[in-house]
Amino acid sequence: MAKERSQAIKQAVKERYATLARRQTSCCPTPQIREGEGMYSRKELQDLPQNVAEFSLGCGNPTAIAELREGETVLDLGSGGGIDCFLAAQKVGKKGRVIGVDMTPEMVFLARENTRKMGLANVEFRLGEMEHLPLEANSVDVIISNCVINLAPDKDAVFKEALRVLKPGGRLCISDIVLKRELSLEVKEDMQQWTGCVAGALKGKIYLGKIARAGFVQVTAQDNSPREKSEASPVPGRLRDYISSVNVSARKPSVSG
Ligand SMILES: C[S@@+](CC[C@H](N)C(=O)[O-])C[C@H]1O[C@@H](n2cnc3c(N)ncnc32)[C@H](O)[C@@H]1O
Repeated sequence: MAKERSQAIKQAVKERYATLARRQTSCCPTPQIREGEGMYSRKELQDLPQNVAEFSLGCGNPTAIAELREGETVLDLGSGGGIDCFLAAQKVGKKGRVIGVDMTPEMVFLARENTRKMGLANVEFRLGEMEHLPLEANSVDVIISNCVINLAPDKDAVFKEALRVLKPGGRLCISDIVLKRELSLEVKEDMQQWTGCVAGALKGKIYLGKIARAGFVQVTAQDNSPREKSEASPVPGRLRDYISSVNVSARKPSVSG
């Protein structure tokens, strides 16, 4: 992709999510579904402050698939208002640590405010891009991400960085949008469709291929399709023929070379 196009996409993504953070509203044309199969449990949502529980812009629940353990260090790519970081923080406990990275200053501000109000000491938010992570190599046990990587014009750079910061044997556990069938050129070039998590989506096979090519092993994907069929789908009706949400897991090899 040309550099100018890539920069224009990032700028548009920042602007859209800055507006949403200021208003604390959903990013999707239909009411955002948060509770149910493939998303958050009622208990998870009830245990969070209302404004945090209601500001979920994701398409899954990566903390439900990550099998987080006490004491682990977790990184959330594109952490938004922080919902998945706060859920992860409960699971890793006081000895664990959760770091959210987001490139939109308004999102980082909101997430920090939420952290302060919740009085959490094991969560922090950093301003940065997932293509150039503000973290040391081999420093993270688990990477989670919820409906973010589709927004990146250069997904190879994202997976390369993810591999760099994970410890050997570390896990990548993400929920994201993939394509079921090709979009028209018109949709692909529509900036609103990029920022709305549609136009940047790739076919599942291509998405998984990029993860494997970055150096990950045990790359697997699970469709969230039971939800897609119901009314309670994170994907609006007219788009359900084109995109779906998936949970993807992979692992950094234990020994490099
Ligand atoms: C659809 S929202 C998802 C937010 C959060 N994960 C959730 O589930 O509520 C996408 C988020 O990713 C952030 N984002 C998009 N591209 C990014 C990038 N290249 N690096 C870091 N953050 C990015 C946006 O600022 C926004 O907060």
